[in-house]
Amino acid sequence: MASVGIIGLGSYVPPHEMSNEDWAKIVETSDEWITSKTGMKRRRIADKETNTSDLAVEACKNALDDAGLSPDDIDLVILATSSPDVPLSSTAGIIQEKLGCSDCGAFDINAVCAGWVYALDVGARFAGTPGYGKVLVVGSEIYSRILNWQDRTTCVLFGDGAGAAVLGEVEDGKGILGSWLTSDGSGSGVIEIPAGGVRVPIPSDNFEEGMQYFHMDGRAVWNFAIEAFPQAVLSALERVGKSLDEVDLVIPHQANINIIKTGMEKLGLPMEKTFTNLHNYGNTAGASVPIAMREAMDEGLIRPGTLVVTAAFGGGLAWGANVIQF
Ligand SMILES: CC(C)(COP(=O)(O)OP(=O)(O)OC[C@H]1O[C@@H](n2cnc3c(N)ncnc32)[C@H](O)[C@@H]1OP(=O)(O)O)[C@@H](O)C(=O)NCCC(=O)NCCS
Repeated sequence: MASVGIIGLGSYVPPHEMSNEDWAKIVETSDEWITSKTGMKRRRIADKETNTSDLAVEACKNALDDAGLSPDDIDLVILATSSPDVPLSSTAGIIQEKLGCSDCGAFDINAVCAGWVYALDVGARFAGTPGYGKVLVVGSEIYSRILNWQDRTTCVLFGDGAGAAVLGEVEDGKGILGSWLTSDGSGSGVIEIPAGGVRVPIPSDNFEEGMQYFHMDGRAVWNFAIEAFPQAVLSALERVGKSLDEVDLVIPHQANINIIKTGMEKLGLPMEKTFTNLHNYGNTAGASVPIAMREAMDEGLIRPGTLVVTAAFGGGLAWGANVIQF
């Protein structure tokens, strides 16, 4: 089988920035609380006219430019999102049309904050096979639109943004070496939007209880994430026959600086071996890993020869990691 890797990488965040101080004017919180509990200082918020597909299209254009390709070169669009434009049809289809990729498949993947690592693995299994030369994998989210802006325990934690990768054939021995994905559906209620599916359809009698919004048991997620993150890194490395010593950079889902510090400690790796930008963007869910990867590349931390592990965890519960040899 041909080696498949990232041949173009792009990201996009909406221009409007919202600081911790801005949140403190809306809910009872403070810069001190948010910074010490999460490491976040600011995040981007999409305006009302912008949808998840619009952020995705901008990230895809940047990834295509980086790859030196045009939309017509793409055979498949895979979107990781848990904040789609509409529950049905797929937002990937909307992206395909807005980008102008002709004769091209498109579908969504919902693995919440682990969506990117799932989508990259799925994309890598298509790319380079007959009919699917180039695959566009994109993570895009507008969580500001699914959060309850009165719930301080969740609203301050997230931001909007998108990241995209073009996958195609690369030199032998390089590219996406392999992935490890897992889930535990017994924790599906730990992070959820209770209404809007068939269990609690819209319109619902329960809207005054905020069932249409994102809900999270923060402490349960913390306990899960500090184990899931290091487990995903180690399991993916084992699957591809690489050791922790060989890893140059770990790019984790940008959920919380304290989760990342604890996970890196459990792995026995110094913080210099990771990259974080959550202080600028908050948690952008399925978009956080490619946004971070693009910035790490721009800062010269990812070069030819760099071995990267991307690891993500979140609602589902779902978690996993990809091992990428640049
Ligand atoms: C959310 C999280 C930061 C909360 O930190 P914590 O130490 O668990 O805090 P607690 O939930 O115990 O709350 C402590 C206090 O802060 C309060 N609090 C919660 N949100 C607050 C906010 N934005 N500002 C100020 N106080 C807040 C709580 O009400 C509680 O007050 P009380 O003691 O009077 O009841 C932490 O649990 C976490 O990071 N969990 C993982 C969340 C995550 O990453 N989710 C995405 C996964 S993909």
